[in-house]
Amino acid sequence: MISVDNLSLKFGKRTLFDEVNVKFTPGNCYGVIGANGAGKSTFLKILSGEIDSTSGQISITPGQRMAVLKQNHFEFDEVEVLKTVIMGHKKLYAIMEEKDAIYMKADFSEEDGIRASELEGEFAEMDGWNAESDAAALLSGLGISEELHYEQMKNLAGNQKVRVLLAQALFGNPDILILDEPTNDLDAETIKWLEDFLVNFKNLVIVVSHDRHFLDEVATHIVDIDFAKIRIYSGNYTFWYESSQLAAKQRSDQNKKVEEKRKELQEFIMRFSANVAKSKQRPRERRCSKN
Ligand SMILES: Nc1ncnc2c1ncn2[C@@H]1O[C@H](COP(=O)(O)OP(=O)(O)OP(=O)(O)O)[C@@H](O)[C@H]1O
Ligand SMILES: [Mg+2]
Repeated sequence: MISVDNLSLKFGKRTLFDEVNVKFTPGNCYGVIGANGAGKSTFLKILSGEIDSTSGQISITPGQRMAVLKQNHFEFDEVEVLKTVIMGHKKLYAIMEEKDAIYMKADFSEEDGIRASELEGEFAEMDGWNAESDAAALLSGLGISEELHYEQMKNLAGNQKVRVLLAQALFGNPDILILDEPTNDLDAETIKWLEDFLVNFKNLVIVVSHDRHFLDEVATHIVDIDFAKIRIYSGNYTFWYESSQLAAKQRSDQNKKVEEKRKELQEFIMRFSANVAKSKQRPRERRCSKN
């Protein structure tokens, strides 16, 4: 779970977030919406710890692993594609690296043997033996064919890199998955694959998207960022859209009613004051007629 308490963020004089209090619960998929520049990407960066808020607090259930779709397409240029995906699970990757380094040693000591067996235990517990096949399956699902799996990232086209980075975020069943506009650069078939993946994903997802159809397929909740406030609504995008339209209509009907009442009252006052004016004239008229 992620709990956001009294979060505020100021960029210079501009307040991007003002006293935000929201909670994200496991099992839900939160679709983040809001106008361009509303602060969607910035909010995700605060959640993932990439930037600090001006005040307030983000609490994450201890021990939960968060995976974030990387925005820097060049970060893994010198790394093989399959390895890039596995690097999404930092702990598992570190174990693999340490294990391999020990086995590469020419002078393999008793201590090395003990450490290696510890690492093997942890590796097996994390389902490490399936890591490569899981990573390959994700890549293939995202349209990266097998002959590219051992290429270096720098040899891939821009839209292929995006898919590898997406596979990296999805890899290893993270407890919390944070995705900023993941459908950019994906074709319809791959978007459908991602939708199915997220629908079947059991943990917490927070995803920014401008794609209404995608949000309708995956989101269980809508997170609306508007005028420095963040509000969470149950339901998918269409449900949020229709209920917010209805609420806006009710507000406008209410305003119309208030406006009608105001006019009625104004007319009444005008009529009333005209009558007062007339009645004030009468004695004078009578006085005139007396003379
Ligand atoms: N480091 C920064 N310093 C100052 N202003 C910033 C900084 N980062 C972002 N902003 C501003 O904060 C606002 C929110 O930016 P952000 O990228 O979070 O918006 P967004 O909702 O993701 O927009 P889009 O839909 O275009 O992706 C923008 O006006 C942006 O210019
Ligand atoms: Mg953005």
